[in-house]
Amino acid sequence: MHERVLVLDFGGQYDQLIARRIRDLKVYCDLKPSDMTAEEVKAYAPIGIVLTGGPNSVYAENAPRIDEKIFCLGIPVLGICYGAQLIAQTLGGRVERAEKGEYGRRDLIIVKDTPMSEGVPSRSVCWMSHADYISALGEEFETLASTAACPVAMYGSEQRKIFGVQFHPEVVHSEFGNKIIENFLYRICGAHGDWTMNNFIAEQIARLREKIGEKRVLCAMSGGVDSAVAATLVYRAVGRQLVCVFVDHGLLRKHEADEVMEVFGDKLGMDLVKADAGARFLKKLEGVSDPETKRKIIGAEFIEVFEEEAKKIGAVDFLVQGTIYPDVVESGKGKGAVIKSHHNVGGLPSVVDFKEILEPLRDLFKDEVRKVGFELGLPENVVMRQPFPGPGLAIRIMGEVTREKLETLRDADFIFRDEIKKAGLQGRIWQYFAVLTNAKTVGVQGDFRTYENVIALRAVTSTDAMTADWARIPFEVLEKISQRITGEVKHANRVVYDITSKPPATIEWE
Ligand code: XMP
Repeated sequence: MHERVLVLDFGGQYDQLIARRIRDLKVYCDLKPSDMTAEEVKAYAPIGIVLTGGPNSVYAENAPRIDEKIFCLGIPVLGICYGAQLIAQTLGGRVERAEKGEYGRRDLIIVKDTPMSEGVPSRSVCWMSHADYISALGEEFETLASTAACPVAMYGSEQRKIFGVQFHPEVVHSEFGNKIIENFLYRICGAHGDWTMNNFIAEQIARLREKIGEKRVLCAMSGGVDSAVAATLVYRAVGRQLVCVFVDHGLLRKHEADEVMEVFGDKLGMDLVKADAGARFLKKLEGVSDPETKRKIIGAEFIEVFEEEAKKIGAVDFLVQGTIYPDVVESGKGKGAVIKSHHNVGGLPSVVDFKEILEPLRDLFKDEVRKVGFELGLPENVVMRQPFPGPGLAIRIMGEVTREKLETLRDADFIFRDEIKKAGLQGRIWQYFAVLTNAKTVGVQGDFRTYENVIALRAVTSTDAMTADWARIPFEVLEKISQRITGEVKHANRVVYDITSKPPATIEWE
């Protein structure tokens, strides 16, 4: 088993980021609810414990507390923001409301050197976000760093191996934040750094082989990163005992269906069955313009097609799903179902004859899934694929979906993606795609008056799709895209750029 760190979640906005930083430093960690008891922590056997930030004040009546006995287990502890205040208050110190909160970049000044500050200059920038501050420390603790407004920006007890930082070492604006986390892991907790994607792959393959034995496995391949990487891992473990079904609903982007067949079927050699169902989906979508109705129809039809294919394959023992760690953490908080609600897989378990679900990626964050994808030799267009909605282009065509509209949208979208790639912007934009608006406008093309579709371009930056900002694509790039779309795409004579953030808009138009 890997050495592991326990991150106790007090509800801060950067909690998953803390966990990702720790994993990046090659130490496995889990995010768990903050009400774990000392016995449960002991049984988990972490090499260190991190207490996250959170929105509460430690002195508020309903503020989340911590089982004090955790501090007596002899396991090193690092508190961040709320976590730091909670340790201070619990172990003899005091936390008060500051006259003025501290938000943003501040100069961090080291006042006492310890292993926590090795490699950290005596003055560096840290990122603060707090209204309360630690006004006194318990006897065993001493101040290790301060800012102009915050007397205790870092404190600790080397003897007890308990430390706290008021700032956020996990955000990139904290210049040496990562170094401080690294110091905690390697100099205080004694980590060795055994969490690498190569190790992960080797272990998963061995585990999958042992579990699957000679049995059969089925996977619904959508072309998305998670299902692709999950299927490839299983394929590496048991080869053609795995059968993948790829339902092509005809609503994918240009060349995408062929790419899936080429990468996984022709090149990797997977047993990949493609169900060409485009015509069926179009028939079902005839005359339908309400977005939610489109989604429901597509979801239901998808399951029906998959079921037909699965019946041809017969009973299997396992079904593979591309569940990843954020899905697991969120469902642990009671926010969602354990099985992904994504329409591509959500309804499958009920129609497939199988005994057990395999989720080989359930411990991984998205960036780790991508690293595994690269290590497994998958091409960049699969591994770095943008998030793409299950109902596909159907929700990027306003109103009724027709074959002709699909063709227009596909061509426009392809040009948009091509130009973004040529401009080297693809890594900096979360999602970028074309939308076929339900508006027609007058244009002049050559000597003719035209009455054709308006194409909207949507491009956003985001970290989790919960909020998003419209991407500042340079005008020259937009100009080139507009010229190419109006020049090369049939039935499009005008291009507009969407400059709305989320909220108030959503990323997709439907
Ligand atoms: P919105 O449009 O709600 O999108 O801002 C947030 C993220 O979710 C994706 N999205 C979907 N994904 N089925 C999916 O699998 C859907 O029906 C769906 N609708 C939106 C969207 O692309 C964005 O990444």
